[in-house]
Amino acid sequence: MDKVSVIVGGSGGIGLESAKKLLAKGNRVCVWGNKNMEKLKSELRAFSPDKCGFYNVNLFDEESIEKNILSILNEHKSINSVVYSVSAPIKNGRIENLEWKDFQEHIDIQIKAFFTLVRLILKNSNQKERVKFIILLTEYCFGKPPSNISHYVAAKYGLMGFVKSLAAELDANKYTFNMVSPGMVETGLVSNLPPKLIEMTAQSNPLKRIATPTDVANIISFLDSEESNYLNGVNILVNGGSKFS
Ligand SMILES: NC(=O)c1ccc[n+]([C@@H]2O[C@H](COP(=O)([O-])OP(=O)(O)OC[C@H]3O[C@@H](n4cnc5c(N)ncnc54)[C@H](OP(=O)(O)O)[C@@H]3O)[C@@H](O)[C@H]2O)c1
Repeated sequence: MDKVSVIVGGSGGIGLESAKKLLAKGNRVCVWGNKNMEKLKSELRAFSPDKCGFYNVNLFDEESIEKNILSILNEHKSINSVVYSVSAPIKNGRIENLEWKDFQEHIDIQIKAFFTLVRLILKNSNQKERVKFIILLTEYCFGKPPSNISHYVAAKYGLMGFVKSLAAELDANKYTFNMVSPGMVETGLVSNLPPKLIEMTAQSNPLKRIATPTDVANIISFLDSEESNYLNGVNILVNGGSKFS
């Protein structure tokens, strides 16, 4: 039987590349997007039409998450991996210029929506196979974070604490939780940054470039594979060595 992967944030730069990678391995993928469904469908239909399912889910809406994950469980009966690769757009601002709603937005999409998703899977799947959760954090979860994005960093640290607690609490024969922490990656998430900042980040990296979505999707593919079966609770830095853990 084909493995089934759910990719939350599949219309994003990293999620889309991960979907392609997992499809190439022979997985079935259930790809979630929100505002960019058409782009997502056109990219993946050409790639592997018969093994893709598309789901329009608003992560701010618990009913939308519930309806879609139950539909996947109903159709496929079991899920082998869940890639959680989402972010709201990141506003740049010092703490004096941010409002609580900026924090709430990131906390809701990183922690509340993931909480809802994990609980629905725990309550509704009675499968024998293990579910591997793969969660995207950021290299800012190590060492000194940059200024002006405290809402994003706070939500990612909250998510990291939640994920580590799940890895510690749940039966690892049934569920594993591993994290991927990239440095800057060429995706839409950084497209509003000044080109000079991106160039400076690339030049200060030992490999003289920022990451491509493929650099990150390769690690996600490894965590999805049986080669990662003895890992649980780890957080892998994917940053060309620009910062150590
Ligand atoms: N790019 C980087 O430099 C970088 C670095 C470190 C970590 N990361 C992390 O890697 C992950 C993926 O980032 P990315 O660069 O691929 O980002 P991206 O290209 O901006 O994609 C973000 C994804 O989140 C989805 N999303 C946003 N709001 C949503 C909502 N309300 N409901 C459902 N889906 C929603 C988007 O769906 P739609 O587009 O369809 O609305 C999209 O699929 C994130 O967790 C990010 O924090 C990225």
